[in-house]
Parts: sequence; C-alpha cells; structure tokens
Amino acid sequence: MTVLETIQRSAEFLAKKGVDSPRLQVESLLAHVLRLPRLNLYLNFERELTSAELEIVRGFVKRRGAREPLQHIVGSTSFCGFEIAVDPNVLIPRPETELLAERAWSFLNFLSTGRNQPTEPLAALDFGTGSGCLAVALALKCACARIVALDISFAALAVARANAKRLHATVEFLESDGFDALPSGELFDLIVANPPYIPSAEIAVLDPEVCKFDPRLALDGGADGLDFYRRLAREAAGFLKPTGRLMLELGDEQAASASDLLDAHNWVVEAVERDYAGRERILVAAPGAA
Ligand SMILES: C[S@@+](CC[C@H](N)C(=O)[O-])C[C@H]1O[C@@H](n2cnc3c(N)ncnc32)[C@H](O)[C@@H]1O
Repeated sequence: MTVLETIQRSAEFLAKKGVDSPRLQVESLLAHVLRLPRLNLYLNFERELTSAELEIVRGFVKRRGAREPLQHIVGSTSFCGFEIAVDPNVLIPRPETELLAERAWSFLNFLSTGRNQPTEPLAALDFGTGSGCLAVALALKCACARIVALDISFAALAVARANAKRLHATVEFLESDGFDALPSGELFDLIVANPPYIPSAEIAVLDPEVCKFDPRLALDGGADGLDFYRRLAREAAGFLKPTGRLMLELGDEQAASASDLLDAHNWVVEAVERDYAGRERILVAAPGAA
C-alpha cells in the first residue's frame, strides 16, 4: 500500500470512529513511524510502505480509533517548543497552558531585569506539575530563577523528572499534597498552577481521549470544579513574597467564581486573559496589603 492510500483509508476509518481531524491524525502517526516531518509525506505519496511499517501504522491507527490520544501513541507532545514526554500518569499539556507559561516567564524576566544586585535568586513554584511542562519551560526560559515543582502523584513526578533531565532543565521536584510538604517560610516570587478544574460529574461526558486517558487526579476539581481555587486562595499567600504573583489557568466559565474566591481572601485580581478561542483562561493575582 502507498503512503497516500494508507492516509486515505486510515482517515476514513478514524472518521467513522468519531476522531476529530482524522486526516491530520493519520498523517502525524505515519510521519512518526516513517521518521519524516509530516509535510514531507506529501513528497512521498507514491512510496510503498514495507510490510513492517504497515503493521506498525495499522496498530497505531487501531489504537487511535479506540480514542487513545495521539500523544500517548507517539509518547510526547510539543509545549512551548520543547518536546515533553507523556504517559497515562500525566495530563497531556494543552496549547492554552502555553499562554500561562509565557505570562509566567515574562513576569520572571521582568523581575530579573529590575534587580541591580540580587541578594537571592528569583524563585517560582509550579503547583501540580504533571508532566513538568510548565516547570521545564520556566527553567529553560528564565535561567535566573530557581524553579520548584510539586505534585501529589509520585508517578507524574517520575515523568516530570525525566523530562527535566532530558531537556537539561534544573527543577527541584517535591511530592506534596498541595503546599503540605513545603517548608513553612519558603517564599516565592511566582506561583503558577494549572489545577484540576473539571466538576466531578462532568468528567464522564468529556471526550474519550480525556475521560479515559487523562488521569482523574489531573481533572477532578470537586463538585463545582473550584476546590483547588479555594485551596490556592486560602493558602498560596503564605508562600508568596509581598511583591509576588499567583498565576492560574481557569476552566471554562470559572473566571468570575475564581475571582470571587480570591477577593474573599484578600487577593487583588490584576488580570484575566483570554485564550485563542476567546475564553477567559489565565488569571493573575497579587496578594493584598496585610
Ligand atoms: C491539570 S493537571 C496540570 C499538569 C501540568 N501542570 C499541565 O499544565 O499540563 C493538575 C496536576 O495537579 C496534580 N494534583 C492533583 N491534586 C493535587 C494535590 N492535592 N496536590 C498537588 N498536586 C495535585 C495532578 O496530579 C496533576 O498532575
């Protein structure tokens, strides 16, 4: 079978299974198997696949048809230009989280340029690091800052550690339920969090790629999805310098509720920024005056 025939037949199969953008998905899988940039497939449409290649592609397409995410099949995804390995123990990093990363490293770099004689290095905390995508991006984009990343999941931390090591990012990882394992008195210039924010009852009706393959621990934000915003609103100020910032990713329609929770705990919500789809996605808050 040729490259073009494989693409056409597999895309038809995936479309029947309800997979979004089926042709793009097949092309990505095929490019991965043939170790080619995806667009180079277009220069190789008439190439015959070997029987070994065909067998691997068929296996991958079957898995994708069963709604396993492309990123699990190929083992990684791109985040802010870095290749982040993923497995079923971690949330697959999402494009909208890149906005949080960019906002966060801009803030750290802004702080670092304002310092003439830094007495201690800037420090940032990634709360709920998962694959380590945010922590790794911050470490690589802000060499001036010490980066600490925590997660309650030992298995996720193993993935995050491996990503940091492969990408030569210096990150201190900590297994912790919320802030519990952080020494009290440890103060950061920045806390970033993309916390679990899906209301528990809504998880079952998400796309199979999400509800069956992303870890529940990474999704479940409690009955109304806001449990982690409550916890952060209550506890994060105790780990932030007075000049620091809390930057949060928000779920759909959560901006007003998250802002109210923060207001009630003396935070000043400075900005709520929209993602590429126009949804309110990133919240920036500063601790209020004591
Ligand atoms: C939505 S995922 C975000 C992962 C990653 N930061 C990203 O943006 O792709 C939330 C993460 O929070 C972690 N988590 C859940 N409950 C936690 C808790 N009580 N304390 C610390 N981390 C927790 C999960 O294990 C998961 O890795």
